[in-house]
Amino acid sequence: MSALRIPDIISKKRDGFELTEEEIESFVSKVVDKSFEGAQLGAMLMAIYLKHLNDAETTRLTRAITHSGIVLTWPHKWKGQIVDKHSTGGVGDKISLLLAPALAACGMKVPMISGRSLAHTGGTLDKLESIPGFRVHLTHQEMTDILETVGCFIAGQTDDIVPADKIMYASRDVTGTVSNLGLITGSIISKKAAESLDALVLDVKTGKAAIIQDEKLARELATQMV
Ligand code: URA
Repeated sequence: MSALRIPDIISKKRDGFELTEEEIESFVSKVVDKSFEGAQLGAMLMAIYLKHLNDAETTRLTRAITHSGIVLTWPHKWKGQIVDKHSTGGVGDKISLLLAPALAACGMKVPMISGRSLAHTGGTLDKLESIPGFRVHLTHQEMTDILETVGCFIAGQTDDIVPADKIMYASRDVTGTVSNLGLITGSIISKKAAESLDALVLDVKTGKAAIIQDEKLARELATQMV
């Protein structure tokens, strides 16, 4: 895998070819170990943005990001109760902050891994951090303890949990590569897969304040994520 050259992976996507599982896994692991450096990551994201990922590549990317860190495990007694929802990017944070505690009050366990702002959309974590003392980086043990006692948390990606999404997410935000369906699907579904959920609601935003403004594209995104 290490024999794959980073510039070759970038130019293959730039020229519109399909990336193999080995190439996508190599890309994601090199993002995490930082050998895919900033300029190269920006170029790769732009190549993906312009040439798109097909369904097979999107699946490969999602799997690779999910397994870039640990996949969370939960006590067996919670089987069937571990649920979450994720929005595809609007402005308001009108759902998460109400729904997570409401589900917890109904006896569910909600291990919500969320993101920061992307482009013009609001970041749940950034808003929560405006509360003095609020900590968005939790260890796996802290997550389990909070789910046991409170029933829900909202936390960010870490160096252990979907670390590739943490790095790619920040880079997409500053390289004009946010609104690409394959990248959004990879980012959202990897986080949710790493949470080991029993059920997930996808809240797909569309309209002039959303990342995906065109309704037809938003429907396509919904289908792709499912
Ligand atoms: N939310 C995410 O976590 N990732 C995206 O790419 C968009 C919305």
